[in-house]
Amino acid sequence: MESKTQFRRLKWSNYDAVYDRHLPGKINSILEIGVAGGGSLVWWKNRFPNAKIYGVDIDATCKKMEQHGFSISIGNQCDSDFLNGIADNFDVIADDGGHRPYQIYASFKALWPKLNDGGLYVIEDVQMAMKCRWRIWSKLVNGPRVIVDELYEQMNRFVRDEDGVAEKSPAEIHLYPHIIIIRKGSIKTEVKEFLEVPTGQVVAR
Ligand SMILES: C[S@@+](CC[C@H](N)C(=O)[O-])C[C@H]1O[C@@H](n2cnc3c(N)ncnc32)[C@H](O)[C@@H]1O
Repeated sequence: MESKTQFRRLKWSNYDAVYDRHLPGKINSILEIGVAGGGSLVWWKNRFPNAKIYGVDIDATCKKMEQHGFSISIGNQCDSDFLNGIADNFDVIADDGGHRPYQIYASFKALWPKLNDGGLYVIEDVQMAMKCRWRIWSKLVNGPRVIVDELYEQMNRFVRDEDGVAEKSPAEIHLYPHIIIIRKGSIKTEVKEFLEVPTGQVVAR
């Protein structure tokens, strides 16, 4: 039986391995869009006990999670003025809100500037933005496909400084079933010449 100290968290079974792979050891500040029963916020707290954890939800009843030490803001994830009003400098932003393509896109545009360098932007349950009744939207309106497309294009713009060094950002985009992980930051790349030494001889038959 569920007790008052248990919080339901409904996630796809691959998420924990994905998070294990990408989460750093220390995190100061996390924002999750989509609080519902609070299970996910509690998971973050158990994993990063010293982090400040923020939740956003359109449902005012989620405010009750403040009694457990979370900072909850009630509003629409599509409302950039509302999102601008919450804290800054997050190490992780996870979108597990309404899952419609346009909601994911609007939140990403508003919140990306609030993510610290090296931080992770996570989009959960991507399949929802592609499922039948929204599939048409996912092609017509901006959503996770467009976010990935725009970032990948930005990452591969052929711009170099006078020394031939290109600074590419974001640093990483990882696509998994149901979940996308984007690491903010940049990687410096340049064209280099490598001399390969043969390690074996080709013998004619
Ligand atoms: C899948 S549940 C979140 C589950 C939670 N992250 C967990 O794992 O425990 C989705 C939540 O997003 C909220 N939501 C739906 N549309 C929203 C919107 N436009 N803005 C903000 N929150 C929204 C819903 O009220 C619901 O609580």
